[in-house]
Amino acid sequence: MAKKLFIKTFGCQMNVYDSARMADSLASVGYVPSDVPDGADIVVLNTCHIREKAAEKVYSELGRLRELQAEKRETDGGRMLIAVAGCVAQAEGEEILARAPYVDIVLGPQTYHRFPALVEQVLQDDSGPAIDIDFPAEDKFDLLPEESAPQGVSAFLTIQEGCDRFCTFCVVPYTRGAEQSRPVEAIVAEARRLVASGSREITLLGQNVNAFHGLGPDGRDWGLGRLSRCLAAIDGLWRLRYTTSHPRDMDDELIEAHRDVPELMPFLHLPVQSGSDRILAAMNRRHTADEYRRIVDRLRHARPDIALSSDFIVGFPGESDEDFAATLRLVNDVGYVQAYSFKYSARPGTPAASADDHVPEGVRRDRLESLQQLLRAQRDVFNSEQMGKTLPVLIEGEGREDGQLVGRSPFLHPVHFTGPKHRIGYVANIRVNEVLTNSLRGVIAAPTDAIAPVTPRRTLA
Ligand code: SAH
Ligand code: SF4
Ligand code: F3S
Repeated sequence: MAKKLFIKTFGCQMNVYDSARMADSLASVGYVPSDVPDGADIVVLNTCHIREKAAEKVYSELGRLRELQAEKRETDGGRMLIAVAGCVAQAEGEEILARAPYVDIVLGPQTYHRFPALVEQVLQDDSGPAIDIDFPAEDKFDLLPEESAPQGVSAFLTIQEGCDRFCTFCVVPYTRGAEQSRPVEAIVAEARRLVASGSREITLLGQNVNAFHGLGPDGRDWGLGRLSRCLAAIDGLWRLRYTTSHPRDMDDELIEAHRDVPELMPFLHLPVQSGSDRILAAMNRRHTADEYRRIVDRLRHARPDIALSSDFIVGFPGESDEDFAATLRLVNDVGYVQAYSFKYSARPGTPAASADDHVPEGVRRDRLESLQQLLRAQRDVFNSEQMGKTLPVLIEGEGREDGQLVGRSPFLHPVHFTGPKHRIGYVANIRVNEVLTNSLRGVIAAPTDAIAPVTPRRTLA
């Protein structure tokens, strides 16, 4: 009987991608993915350490798994291995075993290719739990097996990992290590396989994806702009996206790619974190609010319909009312169609955590609420502007209702409409006739090339 594997993923898209690669790795030794943890032979928690809440979730989850582990032992005498992978594993290592001694394997993001060996070690030696949180010299991408299952119409592809930027609030440079780009040829080969397996859209992933500088086939380092042009030329690959980018790494070549490469979708997640120069400096973001505004202007000049999304942190140590007002001003100036905003969370080992001017929780909560109110209003304006427009929608699958299909607009809105199943994997022109908070509804329009551009908004009316 096939051995069952259950993986639960927390955190960012890279963890989603990594979970799929861990499944590939364990598929090579006979583990088959299961939808539920009950009765599984291995349960993996792929964890996130970015904020305290995210990290603490792991322990409540482990408590529940411990019961399932005992249940399996009692019902069929079988063993359920519990593995903690990802960024909490990297950051906490041994500490996880101290807090949850029933965990069998702890492995960091750079050692997934060693997963089968760790499983074997634990099962054979009975020498207690295995822990591997190295940053090994070998490249896991060279050693991981090829994809064991198709990703579907829209796929992720990691092109760059780790981060050298060291923003003072952030754990990523510690949990993911130094920045590393994959070679162009390996990326192109993986993209071709994804397209051959039915993917039509690829989102290129990296913690700082536009710092990408992979070795090109010509022996030179290629940037993300050049890579995008090369990938866009793959037959059958219709849409390209990338995330997450840093404003400082938005170079001319990449901005020009937004102008020249229609496959690059007009939606960009470009986190700014704060609109105050003082706070941006304290965060070590290495740009000012006006420099960010200028980058946005250049992007809009290159691709007038580009829609922007961002991340924000409120209540960073030392943030005054005036600093926070500068963030609201920036949001008003830029106009975002979507955003994630967070209360600052002090993370162990990061420089900002040892500041002595932490902002009180109540202030952080109030600022988050007013920022989110503004961001929601901007999103609602943008969404209501879609009413009556015809948008090209890449159809990803069936919707919940009978005969319904669901796909994505260029701006990542989920779009629901009635249509035939055989259109999954194609682009349809959909005329929007209903705008909901987080999605759109519409009808298939007569085929047309006249797709209405979205007018950029400078300020919220
Ligand atoms: N590489 C990305 C961000 C990765 S983390 C970038 O450079 O933008 C995703 C988001 O989590 C960050 O953009 C930030 O807004 C938020 N975040 C990171 N550390 C945080 C912390 N200590 N407290 C609150 N939010 C944090
Ligand atoms: Fe973290 Fe992003 Fe800053 Fe890197 S650039 S340290 S991942 S917030
Ligand atoms: Fe979280 Fe690690 Fe991603 S800390 S956000 S899972 S890189």
